[in-house]
Amino acid sequence: VRHFLSLNDLEDHEIADLLERARAVEASPRSDVLRHRVFGLVFFNPSLRTLASSQAAMAQLGGSSFVVTPGQGTWGWEFRPGAVMDGAAAEHVKEAVPVLGQYADVLGVRAFAGGTSLEEDLSEPVLQAFVRESPRPVVNLESAMDHPCQALADWKTLDDEGVPRRGGRLVLSWAYHPKPLPLAVAAATASMAARRGMDVTLLRPEGYEFPSALQARVHGEAAKGGGSFRETDQRTEALSGAHALYVKSFQSPALYGRTEEERALRERHSDWRVSEAWFAPAAPQALFLHCLPLRRNVKVADEVLDGPRSRVIRQAANRLHVQKAVLLRLLGVGRAAAI
Ligand code: CP
Repeated sequence: VRHFLSLNDLEDHEIADLLERARAVEASPRSDVLRHRVFGLVFFNPSLRTLASSQAAMAQLGGSSFVVTPGQGTWGWEFRPGAVMDGAAAEHVKEAVPVLGQYADVLGVRAFAGGTSLEEDLSEPVLQAFVRESPRPVVNLESAMDHPCQALADWKTLDDEGVPRRGGRLVLSWAYHPKPLPLAVAAATASMAARRGMDVTLLRPEGYEFPSALQARVHGEAAKGGGSFRETDQRTEALSGAHALYVKSFQSPALYGRTEEERALRERHSDWRVSEAWFAPAAPQALFLHCLPLRRNVKVADEVLDGPRSRVIRQAANRLHVQKAVLLRLLGVGRAAAI
């Protein structure tokens, strides 16, 4: 069974095929090519864009979808092998996923990081359980350490905007957030941009260095794509000549799961809020990017979000085109038939 779990798993020609399909369905958005096909969506966490774009993608291609939110109107799920299920969870993943596979042609799953054990989150326990148990292709709709649909949409946005691949400079900046957020989007963005051939700088305070496993992953993608990756806490130097500033908050990897210590460190950096002044050393038309949702005037000032640099709506629009491209590829629909 072919899955869509990470851009890191794909060959260059497969990424190019997905981007080409996304452009084709953007030009010709509605057809019947997925008639009678069903996308089963399992969301352990909230969503606006991923859920809505997945359902809209199926509807616009003639198919349909269903949504399961474990523990909220459907049974709670157990994942531990050998568990004595005498608690809240009434359903085990070993039955739940094969059952859903009887109803759907492809399954999507959103399961954020637990946020207490970095080692466990790096092992992607929920996503891997789906892969193990599913008789159908699985789409990663944001896991503990990856968000490939967002990353592919962002790749397309950079292409749409004419941001250079080789020689393009993307700064991925940490920003303050009142909650300890997962690393998934930051890891996916850095990997995507490095694979696209860009020079990627992670701008973050001390204590927010990528864990070594993620550093290795981004360096690996840079080696494949001709890009580069480095980290710094020097904002002016990092942003010098940058073509795009992508902002994402995440909890300190150094203090992962150490709630009070992590919060104290994060609060010390509550002034890491993007304003127009940040762009002074950047390229004149430098873009502002964010996957959304985004807390206005906490992470980013209105002047940036409402100004000419922001491409956040374009990024969200591309989620729809990319979602269609992924579904068409996984369901084996030829490119000509899709348009
Ligand atoms: N960017 C993104 O995945 O948005 P949602 O969390 O709303 O799906």
